[in-house]
Amino acid sequence: MKIAMIGTGYVGLVTGACLAHIGHEIICVDHDQSKISALKNGEIPIYEPGLDKVVADSIASGNLTFTTELTEAVEAVGTIFIAVGTPPAADGRSDLTQVEAAAKQIAKAANGSKIVVIKSTVPVGTCRRVGRILGKHGEDHEFHVASNPEFLREGNAVDDFMNPDRIVVGTDSDKSEAAMRDIYQRFEAQDVPFVSTNLETSELIKYSANAFLAAKVAFINEMSNLCDATGANVEDLSLGIGLDERIGKAFLKPGPGYGGSCFPKDTLALTILAQEADAPSRIIESVVDSNSNHIRRLGRKIAEFCADSWGLDYQHPLIDKRIAVLGLAFKANTDDIRSAASTVIAPLLIKQGASVIGYDPEASEAALDAIDHIETTTDMDEALEGADAVVILTEWENIKSIDWSKKKKLLKSPVIIDLRNLFDPDQMAELNIQYSSLGRPLTGNRR
Ligand code: UDX
Repeated sequence: MKIAMIGTGYVGLVTGACLAHIGHEIICVDHDQSKISALKNGEIPIYEPGLDKVVADSIASGNLTFTTELTEAVEAVGTIFIAVGTPPAADGRSDLTQVEAAAKQIAKAANGSKIVVIKSTVPVGTCRRVGRILGKHGEDHEFHVASNPEFLREGNAVDDFMNPDRIVVGTDSDKSEAAMRDIYQRFEAQDVPFVSTNLETSELIKYSANAFLAAKVAFINEMSNLCDATGANVEDLSLGIGLDERIGKAFLKPGPGYGGSCFPKDTLALTILAQEADAPSRIIESVVDSNSNHIRRLGRKIAEFCADSWGLDYQHPLIDKRIAVLGLAFKANTDDIRSAASTVIAPLLIKQGASVIGYDPEASEAALDAIDHIETTTDMDEALEGADAVVILTEWENIKSIDWSKKKKLLKSPVIIDLRNLFDPDQMAELNIQYSSLGRPLTGNRR
């Protein structure tokens, strides 16, 4: 099928390239001329494993083209996806300016009946609103609207697209439903469940899925604090509850709190949506609070653990100390630092007088722009050299596999606060490293 994809950000580019890869003819549209020129040469503006190959192969097969000309693209196709950004506005609501502008442009460019699919994450009611915009500005033509949320994890997006758990589609007519079934026919043929529903439900599925997963993360982080306070072990606890199929093992890893471009934004937007609908979600409101309290609590924990390890009192222990932060991206395999723990923890440490050097293989540059007074590097040894303490924030494979028996000598003092539980506390104790992690007894799993 011939499809136009409006917006070549993270979601639009991955979806467009993957749809091309499974045989559709995709025209990716973006008003950013330099981005489109780079993409035409196969240059990918984001770090996403495997995406470069899918883009290159699809360009080579002729299935994927790029343009800045929205009108030409709309005229050439019957189905248009809107995958533009819906960033959080100052009040926490999603800013729908780009979605509405795209709808207006599509309506004006239409040369016949069109199916318009909303891929961007939008609050309930937006697809109907897009339908009204299309009708108003393109009154000579018939428009059908569909909602088709994405469930792509950054760092794993190509695989998530190619191997989905389910396809969710909300439609307003038989025509848009038939088009969506055609587009995803390959997956239905592989018995991937196809959830077909109305527009509102589809919009809400996206928010609820992210909110539920965010709640799991917030829950295990609270349990890890409780483990710290009681001598229990959160890793065993995760296993012990996760093996119950009703709970499931996924999303039960303690960490520095959820971050990224989706969970923080979507949980907040859902609480506002629920309040406005007079059906407040106390659970998700608590999840949002729990997550921001968690990261602040960890900031205090870092300072206290450092003070204890250095034999200082709790009054300003970080002044003039050099702290290496390993991992600046919100999780591994991405260069994204939106709502990353580093953007909260590094400023907290800097504010208390520390100098912070951050290491990340992909996100160093973005962090340098986003975090005042941080120094960054893509050379891990440079970060570790002379550090008074190390804080681990991201579970990159090369951070996970650090051999501390070798790297320890670079440190000025062997103090490590590991907020991803990447190392064994007993082994760290054997290396005489002052080691703190989340919800695990310092030495020995059993008493
Ligand atoms: C998420 C959803 O998973 C995806 O389906 C949706 O479409 C977009 O939002 P993403 O933001 O890429 O994807 O990250 P994800 O892998 O879901 O992790 C979200 C956050 O939770 C990260 O900060 C991660 O570090 C944290 N997390 C996740 C944990 O702390 N522990 C876990 O067990 C899982």
